[in-house]
Amino acid sequence: MNAHITFAKTAWVLIGTIDDIPRQGSRRIQDGARRIAVFRTADDRVFALEDKCPHKNGPLSEGIVHDGCVTCPLHNWVISLETGEAQGADDGRTSTFPVRIEGRNVYLNLTATNAAC
Ligand code: FES
Repeated sequence: MNAHITFAKTAWVLIGTIDDIPRQGSRRIQDGARRIAVFRTADDRVFALEDKCPHKNGPLSEGIVHDGCVTCPLHNWVISLETGEAQGADDGRTSTFPVRIEGRNVYLNLTATNAAC
C-alpha cells in the first residue's frame, strides 16, 4: 500500500493506524523524494526504515518480514527492522526512524532518523 503524506519537519506525524499495515507486511510512505517502509511484525511491533536496501537499493517494502527482520526481494539480504543493519556476513545499514504507537495510531518521527553512514 502506498501513501503520499506531507510531513511537518518538526514533530511526530500520524500516518494511520496499525490496521493499515498488513501483519508481516508493510506500508510505503512517500516523504518528498524519500520512500519510507513501515513494517508490522507478526506480534504487532512496528518499525520504519528507508525503503532502500543497503546492498543495491532494493525495495525493502516488498520483502518478506520474519523474526524482526525483512529479507530483501532482490538478493535476499536480511535486514534488522530494529537497527537497519544487514545480518550475517553481509555489511551495511539502512536508515531507521522512530515509531510511536498510541492506541492503534502509528506516528513517525522523520526528523530523528538513525541515518545510514
Ligand atoms: S538489493 Fe537488497 S539484497 Fe541486493
